[in-house]
Amino acid sequence: MSDPTELTVRSAEDSDWDAMALLAATCFGAVRQHEATAMWRSLIPAGGAVIARDGSDVVGMALYLDLRLTVPGGAVLPMAGVSWVCVSPTHRRRGVLRKLFAELHERMAGSSYPIAGLEASEGGIYGRFGYGPASVDESLSVDTRTVGFHAGVPDPGGVRIVRPAEQRGRLEEIYERWRLRTPGGLFTPPQLWDEVFADRESARNGGSPFFVLLHDDGFVFYRVHGEGERKSLHVTKFAAVTVDAYVALWRTLIGMDLMDTVTVQAPPGELLPYLLTDARLVRVTGREDGLWLRIHDVPAVLEARTYSADVRVVLDVSDESLGGGGRFALEVADGRARCGRTDAEPDVTTDLSVLGSLYLGAHRASTFAAAGRLQCNDVRLIERLDAAFASEVPAQIGFGF
Ligand SMILES: CC(C)(COP(=O)(O)OP(=O)(O)OC[C@H]1O[C@@H](n2cnc3c(N)ncnc32)[C@H](O)[C@@H]1OP(=O)(O)O)[C@@H](O)C(=O)NCCC(=O)NCCS
Repeated sequence: MSDPTELTVRSAEDSDWDAMALLAATCFGAVRQHEATAMWRSLIPAGGAVIARDGSDVVGMALYLDLRLTVPGGAVLPMAGVSWVCVSPTHRRRGVLRKLFAELHERMAGSSYPIAGLEASEGGIYGRFGYGPASVDESLSVDTRTVGFHAGVPDPGGVRIVRPAEQRGRLEEIYERWRLRTPGGLFTPPQLWDEVFADRESARNGGSPFFVLLHDDGFVFYRVHGEGERKSLHVTKFAAVTVDAYVALWRTLIGMDLMDTVTVQAPPGELLPYLLTDARLVRVTGREDGLWLRIHDVPAVLEARTYSADVRVVLDVSDESLGGGGRFALEVADGRARCGRTDAEPDVTTDLSVLGSLYLGAHRASTFAAAGRLQCNDVRLIERLDAAFASEVPAQIGFGF
């Protein structure tokens, strides 16, 4: 076994991709279809993929995609979407990921990405690199057999059963409206839509092809699982930009007599249980982190979002692994922020990963303070931070990458 200091790290070249695909398939235990690989590759900017080699063998890889992230208030930031991170089981826990990440993050900074995001295979890996979980996905299971709606709940109608390919333009247009109002929403490039509409057998997880319900202001993509009389309906994409669309789509989903359950992932605080006469029929069966964020350019990123309350604070942000962070004065007035580097005494000391977790409003400063991960002696200031960073629209990742 080579010492990791002997490994070379360099940009991935076209001729490396066969070896990279084999490494990724081995590490993730799944072979990705050639067409899907080509689609994701088309989203990698120049210099955005690095590999580690031991001799001529590719033993590690990491890359980022050129993505666009909506932040609270609707501004959109260029985001480096980190993906396909893997190190061969023959070379693990010897610092290969550290080397790859040092190189990759230097490149991101050089390419002016103010923020990076990823989805984590395991929760314990990325905090040390300044990434914090920034959205929460609850898995909901709705028992539809005895469900009923409260008398006052509207019945707006307007839902149609459609063939997805025939309504692609309208579905994309509604998704655009949804992602521009949803923190964590991501611009979906045309080649990714092509992949969605290709509806490959390998992407179905044993379920049926897509069914789609369409409303003027929302849509649902779902698959049916199971056979005979015990079928369940699994929602894979739910987007509603008005309450009417949300209620109308849920009435339609729940109106399917022959489905025992509807399962869906949604942020905490869904409206659905409040619509039903028996809210217990909506069970939370799981809770996961969704998007993780690492803030490279703290002033630019903090100034990009809007805020729900005024606050003035000096933040001291550490980033031991990758040398980012620093000390920043943040001043929020009338929902807009000004932020710059400062030498002033800090009011709050924390880690870059915590700032990433606060950014979209899915987690509170007071929770991190209670956990000893954010230090601040002023209880009122922590309350103001909670109020300022809250987001009316809950954070939700636009798509997996
Ligand atoms: C996760 C993975 C990339 C780590 O690669 P690696 O080269 O072994 O990691 P390193 O040796 O550079 O470790 C860097 C640090 O992360 C820690 N770490 C690595 N993998 C970890 C894990 N799975 N859980 C918790 N900590 C982990 C190491 O202990 C080390 O910590 P420290 O230096 O702060 O003490 C590798 O195990 C892998 O390919 N796993 C399977 C695929 C996967 O899950 N990829 C991530 C997709 S999001």
